Amino acid sequence: MANEHKHKFAAVVLAAGKGMRMVSDAPKVMHRVAGKPMIAHVMAALKTLSPEQAVLVVAPGMDEVRKTAQQDYERCEFAVQDKQGGTGHAVRQAEATLGKYIGPILILYGDAPLVTADTLSRALEAAASADIVVVGMRMSNPSGYGRLVIDAEGHLEEIIEDRDATEDQKKITLCNSGIMVVGGKHLFPLIHKLKPNNAAGEYYLTDIVSEADAHNLHCHVVEAEASEVMGVNTRAELAQAEHWMQQRLRRQAMGWGATLIAPETVYFSADTKIGQEAIIHPYVVFGAGVVVEHGAEIRSFSHLDGAWVGKNAIVGPFARLRPGAVIGEEAHIGNFVEIKKATIGKGAKANHLSYIGDATVGDGVNFGAGTIICNYDGDIKHHTTIGRRAFIGSNTALVAPVIVGEGATVGAGSVITEDVPVGGLAIARAPQINKSSFVRKRKKG
Ligand code: UD1
Ligand code: MG
Repeated sequence: MANEHKHKFAAVVLAAGKGMRMVSDAPKVMHRVAGKPMIAHVMAALKTLSPEQAVLVVAPGMDEVRKTAQQDYERCEFAVQDKQGGTGHAVRQAEATLGKYIGPILILYGDAPLVTADTLSRALEAAASADIVVVGMRMSNPSGYGRLVIDAEGHLEEIIEDRDATEDQKKITLCNSGIMVVGGKHLFPLIHKLKPNNAAGEYYLTDIVSEADAHNLHCHVVEAEASEVMGVNTRAELAQAEHWMQQRLRRQAMGWGATLIAPETVYFSADTKIGQEAIIHPYVVFGAGVVVEHGAEIRSFSHLDGAWVGKNAIVGPFARLRPGAVIGEEAHIGNFVEIKKATIGKGAKANHLSYIGDATVGDGVNFGAGTIICNYDGDIKHHTTIGRRAFIGSNTALVAPVIVGEGATVGAGSVITEDVPVGGLAIARAPQINKSSFVRKRKKG
């Protein structure tokens, strides 16, 4: 990003709203897009631009929101809005921290997870020649958003909220994204002039525009795509934001040189990393913390979460990799195989119907179909170690803790409760009994 670290500015992020329209017990900004809370997306974009100071406005008791914001942005400061009196009232809470700041102040809403550092940077750039910059977006269905009223010279005169707009104003499709840059010396004086004279009875931040315009301050609009700046107020909008975020992540993965056969069917997490030449087949879902290395292939209907897939490994179809699964180079993990907290060595194969949990599996190990590691005794989890090139016969239960030595063989159908020596053979099943001259009695007639 060309504009990084170029701007000197401070930021206020609003996140204290109740989010009633989400119909949720959780604060709105904690809802996730691509597996990451909305507020974390916003803080990450902000951090890229290194503001001199950033204040997050939260409601009392929003400890989770604070913690989440700090994970992406350690230096973030906080202000508490005791009562939700509107976005203008929320910005006022940052006055104690930023009241003396004279540079540009960027205001962002925590419910706009698609925002990018690029868009913010464009707004900051425009602020060099305007007192207030508002980022606008064109909406085919603008209902619910504040409308930007522009005069004949192209100056922004007023932002009128949907609830307060006349029928004519409602036809305006240029909407307020909520991203605004205001010169430090103007912001708080303007905020103090706000009155709650509107349908909601709230102090609207957006009303500072008409006030500024009346005082001949210059208000300017920068346009951005809705897919970068839309706000999320409802679950339907959350789904729309997810849709756009997924499109972005798919394009990113393809940009890294991965093949996505049917990109629209693949779901990424914000932090998924896919190597060059990797092939992702249709219908694959990536949970948080997955890395797929160069040339690996993830086949259809696989679900990966907190897993690392080594170079040229093949996973799926229908595989499930859970947190702590580390799949070695060229290993094969096939259909209906679940792996959790286990390291699978180079070239090892578990191709069918297996559970491998809490294990260290050496290079070249082969698991027959239906191998189960019994890692849990109902109380605690135990570890299993399988040496290089060991062969585990089909339908084996390995009762942990247990060690299978290098090159050892386990006969099919065994229940292994004791260590198997290096190079040895273990068969732990009832011997077959054959009876010759056995004739089945048949019912007469
Ligand atoms: C707001 C804008 C609207 C814009 C839209 C873009 C106002 C008055 N309206 O409407 O012009 O088109 O965003 O998405 O600003 N918040 C607080 N304290 C409060 C109220 C809100 O911190 O008292 C926070 C919320 O947590 C949220 C943000 O401010 O992150 C915006 O509030 P929200 O209620 O979502 O405003 P919108 O109705 O979306
Ligand atoms: Mg909103």
